[in-house]
Amino acid sequence: MERYQRHVITHEGHPVAAPLADASVDAVLGAALAHVGGDGGRLLDLGCGEAAWPLRALAARPSARAVGVDVNGEALAAAARAAERAGVAGRLALHEGTVADYTADEPFDAVLCVGSTHAFGGLLAALTAARAHLAPGGCVVVGEGFWERPPTPAALAALDAAAEDYADLGNTVELVLTDGWAPVFGHTSSLAEWDDYEWRWTGNLTRWVLDHADHPGAAEALETATAHRAGWLGGYRGVLGFVTLVLRAAR
Ligand SMILES: C[S@@+](CC[C@H](N)C(=O)[O-])C[C@H]1O[C@@H](n2cnc3c(N)ncnc32)[C@H](O)[C@@H]1O
Repeated sequence: MERYQRHVITHEGHPVAAPLADASVDAVLGAALAHVGGDGGRLLDLGCGEAAWPLRALAARPSARAVGVDVNGEALAAAARAAERAGVAGRLALHEGTVADYTADEPFDAVLCVGSTHAFGGLLAALTAARAHLAPGGCVVVGEGFWERPPTPAALAALDAAAEDYADLGNTVELVLTDGWAPVFGHTSSLAEWDDYEWRWTGNLTRWVLDHADHPGAAEALETATAHRAGWLGGYRGVLGFVTLVLRAAR
């Protein structure tokens, strides 16, 4: 199965491609847009995927405009279709390319990078890029993994990660503070949000296999779902956390 087809299947019915519930996405966006007056604002989403975050912001704010950047053209095509359906296509610009190469003529009131910091090589590099796009008084929304508990070998193997890839929550926030940011809101994904995300991921793929038993990719997809579930339940469940921070520049 092609990687993006699998992404579409595994994320069906989930609000964003990260472990946040619907109400959590609304709370983060509300906090991010609180400082933008009226019903407008300019948003940039770096590594936007299907642009779930900007689409939601545009629906809530009739004068807002947004730009989404992603390397995945299929994800952007899905974002464009969703924008048409929602009646916000005229206010959403989509750029296909790597986030590091994206340039804009004007700064943004909010720059989002949720679950996409790896596109820059990590949290601090993502924040540096976001800062370059930020209007004075604007905010950054960054979603990043952290270790809830010291990672076990089983967790690292399941995630194909190294212990140094993340810090614990306190040290993650410390890094951000030292980099000159002030957190004005934060959401730490609960175990229930993680469970919902992972049950959907594995359950959606398992259901697809059962409904497409004759598909040439069915056996491999079942192996993927089974291995992913085992890696989660026997490895990183309760070990990998996810925090979404709303930050303003402190200096
Ligand atoms: C986990 S998804 C997050 C999508 C979205 N931010 C969300 O929360 O729903 C990560 C996204 O980053 C994109 N991505 C990865 N590397 C990238 C790069 N170098 N430039 C642009 N996009 C990239 C992927 O294509 C994918 O859509």
